[in-house]
Amino acid sequence: MNVKYKLGGKEIELELNGSTFVGSDEVLLLQDENLIENTTWKEIGYDIVDFLSEADFVKIKDGLKSIIGDLIVEAGGKIDQNFELENYHMYVNNEIHLKLAKMIQWGWNISEFPVDFKLINDRISEVVGMQVSSKAKHIELNNFFLRIVRPQNFQDNNPPHRDVWIDRLRDAVNIYAPICGSNENSSLGLISGSHLFKESEIERTAEGAILNGTSYTVPCVISVKGEQPILLRPDPKENQVMLFSPYMVHGGGYNFNENTTRMSLEVRFWKN
Ligand SMILES: [Fe+2]
Repeated sequence: MNVKYKLGGKEIELELNGSTFVGSDEVLLLQDENLIENTTWKEIGYDIVDFLSEADFVKIKDGLKSIIGDLIVEAGGKIDQNFELENYHMYVNNEIHLKLAKMIQWGWNISEFPVDFKLINDRISEVVGMQVSSKAKHIELNNFFLRIVRPQNFQDNNPPHRDVWIDRLRDAVNIYAPICGSNENSSLGLISGSHLFKESEIERTAEGAILNGTSYTVPCVISVKGEQPILLRPDPKENQVMLFSPYMVHGGGYNFNENTTRMSLEVRFWKN
C-alpha cells in the first residue's frame, strides 16, 4: 500500500508494509497538561517568535559548529577551514552521517549548550506565559537535540507523527529553532489545529510497520479525517523560534533544497 501526503504543496509518497489503525474517540490533550493554554495561538497549536539576542544566537551557532566538526572527525571524516554547518553534507558520506546521527540521537545535556540554558528556559516561559524548563519532571532528562537533514535525502526525517504517542513526551511544549538551511523547502511540517483532533480521526501505523524500508519508533500518520494529510511548512528564520504542541501532527521535514543542509535545535519543555 502507498501512503501519500502533502508537504508545503509538494506530494510525498511512501511505501507502507504493515497495518494501520485509529485510536479512541478522545482528544489526548484534554486529559493532559496544556502548556499553551495561556497563549493566543492555543487553537492553531504553534507560533513563531523572536528567539534570543543576535550575539547569543551567533554564540550558539559557533558552538554547535565546533561540536559537529569534532563529531565528523570522531566518526571518521575530515573537516577543513571552509567547513560550515550549511555544507555539512559535503563533508560526510552516508556511512559517516549515519554514524554521527547515532552519536547525537539522544542529544546532549544542557550543560553542553554553548550559552547558559537559563536564557532559553526564560524566553520560552515568557512566550507561553508560565514557568517551564527543559528538565523533564518524570524522567532523568534535561537535554537539547540537533536535527540534521541533508538535502535531497529521504532517510533523514520522520514521517508525520504525534510525539505524544510516546507517553514520556506528553505534557510538554516543543521548539523548533533553525540553525541553518531552514526555509519553506526544508522546515518542519505540521497540521494546524491537529493537537485538538480526536484519536479516532487519525489513522496511524501499527507497531512493526515499515515505511520505505525503515521502521520508525513513533507511529506514522496515514490519514487525517479520512483524507490525505496536508502539512504546512511555517518558515521561522534564523534566530526565530517556532513553538508547537507535541500533540500536533508534525514531521516529514524533507529537505528539498539543492545544496544546503538543514539543522535545527529541538527541545521539549515541561511545567515546573
Ligand atoms: Fe516529533
